[in-house]
Amino acid sequence: MTETSYTMGYSEEFRQMLNRRSAETHAVHLMPLLEPGMRVLDFGCGPGTISVGLARAVDPGEVHGVDIESSQIDLARAAADAGGHDNATFHIGDVTDLPFDDETFDAAHCHAVLMHVPDTSGTLSEVRRVLKPGGIIASREFILGSSFLEPSTENTAAAWETFGNLLRANGGHPQMGKELKNRLIEAGFSDIRATASFDYFSAPEDVAFLHAFISDWFYSPDVIAAATTHGVATQEQFDQWRLEHDAWRDHVGAVGALAFGEAIAVKP
Ligand SMILES: C[S@@+](CC[C@H](N)C(=O)[O-])C[C@H]1O[C@@H](n2cnc3c(N)ncnc32)[C@H](O)[C@@H]1O
Repeated sequence: MTETSYTMGYSEEFRQMLNRRSAETHAVHLMPLLEPGMRVLDFGCGPGTISVGLARAVDPGEVHGVDIESSQIDLARAAADAGGHDNATFHIGDVTDLPFDDETFDAAHCHAVLMHVPDTSGTLSEVRRVLKPGGIIASREFILGSSFLEPSTENTAAAWETFGNLLRANGGHPQMGKELKNRLIEAGFSDIRATASFDYFSAPEDVAFLHAFISDWFYSPDVIAAATTHGVATQEQFDQWRLEHDAWRDHVGAVGALAFGEAIAVKP
């Protein structure tokens, strides 16, 4: 793992987490602003599960998804094909150097992307470049400090902190969701509307899903190796956290919450 590699990776476990997302559930802040005929950028689109809903909302307009990882672009193209969204096009590319002319898009969307890209101001100024004047940017990003598993212990807090340290070690921003308003102002956007929401896990099948996701991802050999290499946690800590994590799943009152901040802003 290099200093700026993407923390989450492209495992089947993380793909299942992304597969739970859709424009209707995860771009609630943007959907009312979309109109048929718009041209929309979805940067850091991943497997395109949100992009296809954006494409449906602007049809016969266009959605262009961009992701740095070719396997994600393959998945996004397959999702668009399966849904018959021939107005969705996907490109391999870097969000800090977008393959589009100035003033191409009416709206730009990202979900859980600015939290991972080291150069926030470079990314936002590049997105600003490809937006038309009056175009909107919409982002929803993680807030680690407001996310929780309950019941919890001091060890649970240490595990969350380790996840944050891993993100930071890779150049990421674990609290980006609450920094969005400020970062958008700094990048020259105006008319900012900032909100927050949770992805919440309470039904037994949702608790079981979150438990399995954390077990398979956070306790995977790759993540443990990355954490121990970066010196952010020891193998013994992971072993103890895993025992407590299993106890959380088995508790009748178990709930889990991933906190996100959203913001909409306008290019003047
Ligand atoms: C957490 S996933 C989110 C995917 C999707 N937006 C969603 O929420 O379902 C972050 C995505 O950002 C992509 N990404 C990270 N850094 C990038 C960069 N510099 N340029 C383009 N994509 C990038 C990753 O490949 C990954 O697919």
